[in-house]
Amino acid sequence: MERNLKSLVNKNILLGVSGGIAAYKSAEIVRHLRKVGASVHVVMTKSAEEFITPLTLQALSGNRVSTELLDVEAEAAMGHIELAKWADGILIAPATANTLARLANGRGDDLLSTITLAFDGPISLAPAMNQAMWGDERTQDNIKKLETQNFQICGPGSGEQACGDVGMGRMLEPLEILDLFSYSFNEGKMAGKSILITAGPTQEPIDPVRFITNRSSGKMGYSLAQSAIDYGAKVTLISGPVNLEPPSNCNFISIKTADEMFEAVMHHVNDKDVYIGTAAVSDYKPAKMQNNKIKKDGSNSSITLELEENKDILKSVSALKHRPFVVGFAAETNDVIENAEKKLSSKDLDLIVANDVSKKEIGFDSEENEVTLVTSADNYLIERQSKKKVSNKIIEFISERIND
Ligand code: C5P
Repeated sequence: MERNLKSLVNKNILLGVSGGIAAYKSAEIVRHLRKVGASVHVVMTKSAEEFITPLTLQALSGNRVSTELLDVEAEAAMGHIELAKWADGILIAPATANTLARLANGRGDDLLSTITLAFDGPISLAPAMNQAMWGDERTQDNIKKLETQNFQICGPGSGEQACGDVGMGRMLEPLEILDLFSYSFNEGKMAGKSILITAGPTQEPIDPVRFITNRSSGKMGYSLAQSAIDYGAKVTLISGPVNLEPPSNCNFISIKTADEMFEAVMHHVNDKDVYIGTAAVSDYKPAKMQNNKIKKDGSNSSITLELEENKDILKSVSALKHRPFVVGFAAETNDVIENAEKKLSSKDLDLIVANDVSKKEIGFDSEENEVTLVTSADNYLIERQSKKKVSNKIIEFISERIND
């Protein structure tokens, strides 16, 4: 069990609670999720509030509990679409007969059902109801329908029920549910793989106080490093200067110039299965670094800086005899896919991630991104969502290609 729950570390979990007597066990589910390092947001149905107070679940989750679909104030904080985007997985425990019926029919008449419609990740349901209700043909039809729609059904168990009946319908215990839920995440897909990632900008010194650099927060590369770790890979992250904490369990190498990044990459690339170059490497560096600060002495209204080309690190990696699966990034402002395709072939890459940086709401400093994965065979759009989710999808895509 320990091993599986690891896949919940750092996950954003939306816990849906519907109105059944088993709702008291939801508090324990929240506690376990927090303990393994997941972030939890609880969404309760109206009737769930009759069984357990939002305050309890709020205190345990550390996040405001959401209950209303049409609450202006709540929507301003984190509305149903934001919650669906935020979550990596949804667990509904307990899931009553009514909730199952509503989900099976795609209803969107309260906050929880609406979120499940807007969400495109794994959803697990832990049914809890009286044994006669569970055995009813209509409930069983709903369960079959939900299974074909890829909902994971956790339980129920059998035994003595709160109403005194004995039979199927008891909600599983919190740890049993979480054990099953943890299988929703595809961790392990990168187990045993080594990945080298570059991130951030490089700095090319002009003199002791000035340098040439590129705009890059490093967020995409750091997020990819975290995703790869979550998927079980061993990660080496080579980064230029950024304001980010590197993931705790990676081999982290800090560099400043493109030459230093090149050296570090060539030193570490040998035994790697995948190379991902997200770094915004400066294409040029001053031909000569001045040892003293260049002075403004009044005699020159302009100065000339001679630049020379830096080595293309990505191209050098793909030219290696024993090359890893090579992934590049293309930050483009126009003809995004066309330019990415050109780079894919000129740099001889296995995959290029095309990013339209002319759109303010994505790329650079933003928390969200929308990218197209371009290979010689196909293109695959990852729609606008958090950089974390985009990273997960990129790593999943790579894992499918290298495990083929
Ligand atoms: O040619 P362009 O700089 O647009 O290509 C971007 C891709 O190439 C990125 O993956 C970037 O990390 C990589 N690159 C590199 N070395 C350079 C320039 C870019 O590895 N000198």
